[in-house]
Amino acid sequence: MKNLNDKVAAVTGAGSGIGRALALHLADKGCRLALSDVDAAGLAETERLLAGRARAVTTAAVDVADEAAVLAWADAVVADHGRANLVVNNAGVALSGTVASLSTEDYRWIMGVNFWGVVHGTKAFLPHLEASGEGHVVNISSVFGLTAQPLMSGYNASKYAVRGFTESLRQDLELTRSCVSATCIHPGGIKTNIARAARVDDSVAGATGKSADASSREFEKSFITSPARAAEVIVGAVEKNKRRALIGPDARVFDAMVRIAPTGYQRLITGVVRSRGAK
Ligand SMILES: NC(=O)c1ccc[n+]([C@@H]2O[C@H](COP(=O)([O-])OP(=O)(O)OC[C@H]3O[C@@H](n4cnc5c(N)ncnc54)[C@H](O)[C@@H]3O)[C@@H](O)[C@H]2O)c1
Repeated sequence: MKNLNDKVAAVTGAGSGIGRALALHLADKGCRLALSDVDAAGLAETERLLAGRARAVTTAAVDVADEAAVLAWADAVVADHGRANLVVNNAGVALSGTVASLSTEDYRWIMGVNFWGVVHGTKAFLPHLEASGEGHVVNISSVFGLTAQPLMSGYNASKYAVRGFTESLRQDLELTRSCVSATCIHPGGIKTNIARAARVDDSVAGATGKSADASSREFEKSFITSPARAAEVIVGAVEKNKRRALIGPDARVFDAMVRIAPTGYQRLITGVVRSRGAK
């Protein structure tokens, strides 16, 4: 999709961070916006920031883990805007803890938002994107969809799943000569609310010697890229029809690391996490 002007773009998780920055950037590109989030107050703030900047904006409180709600939202977007050209499945949450300590409910929760949310958004919008004649699906994975790290098994599983799903989706679309394409995005550390909003299990303190708050603050120090820059890279990837886009210099380091040492990188990362805890 080389020209985004007058296209209808739907973004999940638009009440904060990358989703909000994307809404602002897509507005500057001339898009009509359909925004959703589970956090109605955050979404209202995004809408306020867009005042006078976007052609048209609709908002909806939608939990991406709820398939029926996402389906109803996709239908509402087309009813309100006449079509849908782009969906960015961005809503996401983080979870930290050892596998021994996290519950299966914790895993269901993070997979429900990060993986099933992406599946729901893709499936709900795909028929509408096809009907528009020119469509694109963007799914947000992470550098942790390329490399794993300790205490992040749920997040890693969800983001590897998003990558596998999206890379296969792209090939399905090519095989069937669809007018829709797909891109998988792998952000490095982006300065957003994700660490503060994370579920952090008590086992993190046991494993690192740091409280949940201290661990989140430590983790946030590795957030080096602005959400605005992330939005630019995501939109650029749509315009260039890229299969994969990495965001930030740290993402390029993770990508290189796993190519150079496909399993050896794990020892390195565990060492870094251990040394952070010791400080
Ligand atoms: N910030 C980073 O360093 C980073 C790195 C890699 C990937 N990501 C991914 O980027 C995406 C955006 O995250 P962010 O960093 O902007 O975080 P954020 O916490 O600032 O924003 C996430 C948004 O998703 C919303 N959300 C959470 N659960 C939801 C649900 N069930 N239904 C609908 N909305 C829901 C939140 O209310 C919030 O507005 C996520 O998928 C995240 O995993 C972020």
